[in-house]
Amino acid sequence: MAKYNIALLPGDGTGPEVLREGVKVLKAAAGRFGVTFETTEYDFGGDRFLATGEVLPDSGIEELKKFDGIYLGAIGHPEVKPGILEKGILLRVRFELDQYINLRPVKLYPSIPTPVKDKGPEDIDFVVVRENCGGLYTGLGGVARKDTPHEVAVQEMVYTRQEVDRCLRYAFELTRKRDKDKTLTLSGKTNVLTYVYDLWERAFHEMGERDFPDIKRDYAHVDATTMWMVKNPEWFDVIVTGNMFGDIITDLGAMVQGGMGVAAGGNVNPEGVSMFEPIGGSAPKYTGQNVINPIACILAGQMLLDHLGEDEAAGCVEKALVAFLESDLLQGLSVREIKQAGMSTTKIGDAIAEWTAKV
Ligand code: IPM
Ligand code: MN
Repeated sequence: MAKYNIALLPGDGTGPEVLREGVKVLKAAAGRFGVTFETTEYDFGGDRFLATGEVLPDSGIEELKKFDGIYLGAIGHPEVKPGILEKGILLRVRFELDQYINLRPVKLYPSIPTPVKDKGPEDIDFVVVRENCGGLYTGLGGVARKDTPHEVAVQEMVYTRQEVDRCLRYAFELTRKRDKDKTLTLSGKTNVLTYVYDLWERAFHEMGERDFPDIKRDYAHVDATTMWMVKNPEWFDVIVTGNMFGDIITDLGAMVQGGMGVAAGGNVNPEGVSMFEPIGGSAPKYTGQNVINPIACILAGQMLLDHLGEDEAAGCVEKALVAFLESDLLQGLSVREIKQAGMSTTKIGDAIAEWTAKV
């Protein structure tokens, strides 16, 4: 009987509310298959920072390294200057635990409205593999002559061959495992970023030719990628890209799949400890109102189960979600629609947790 130790980081705003439902569904689905979870909660976030001045102590990082996985609610507090918590918690965990893959599925579930006209669940099902530690996020750069008319600011896009190769390998292997169209698209900007994306492109074709002859390789500039994500999302199977481009196109991906209320992601270290999170923010204005959609966080839990190799439990969460959506309890995912349907964060979590026993 498998047993896992998971660290919970509820974080700020509505993070704790959605994480509570995520854990509820995760435990319900896992329980059916004899899998148990021991959870340990950490209070890293805005309130702790305002009270103690501490964002994330070094000891916290060391503790997090000992878990089988990390499950995060949301980071971002209206009274804390933007950047402090995002860099001090979210990015710090990603970097120090070397979670070099940001895995972001873009999948439209039945009954969820997409703003993309004439497209349905059969058209929208791809995954973005975003490099998660390097590129513009490396943090190299500087400023000189500050506050003068001659001020200069530099932020460098840095990639090593090793960083590019390990990300590409993960993406190729995922494309093989998905077994959908066996197509991996590199999204870059080889027409302008002639150093960094030239490295990506050469590494992509070398590795593909040598180790993944069964995978079709495709290339699209990042600007064209955004166009096709809207116009022909069915063309994509797996997209691999650098950190900044991945950040941008996955917000578009979230909209294509129905909104932030359903978009989940994983910060993955295939050899270490990974962290799963809903992509959306902490929605401070709705804190404590029990109106935020927990589906994104529930899907993050599904990704966590999948990552741990608990395929049956992961499949159960997905089936329970689909059963819930098809049972016609929701007409949409926004706060307004949740209120209109007489639903709430807790009721949605309860309903999906109940479905895990029946699917
Ligand atoms: C995301 C977020 C983060 C990022 C921010 C909050 C640092 O936008 O997870 O996509 O830029 O990676
Ligand atoms: Mn982002």
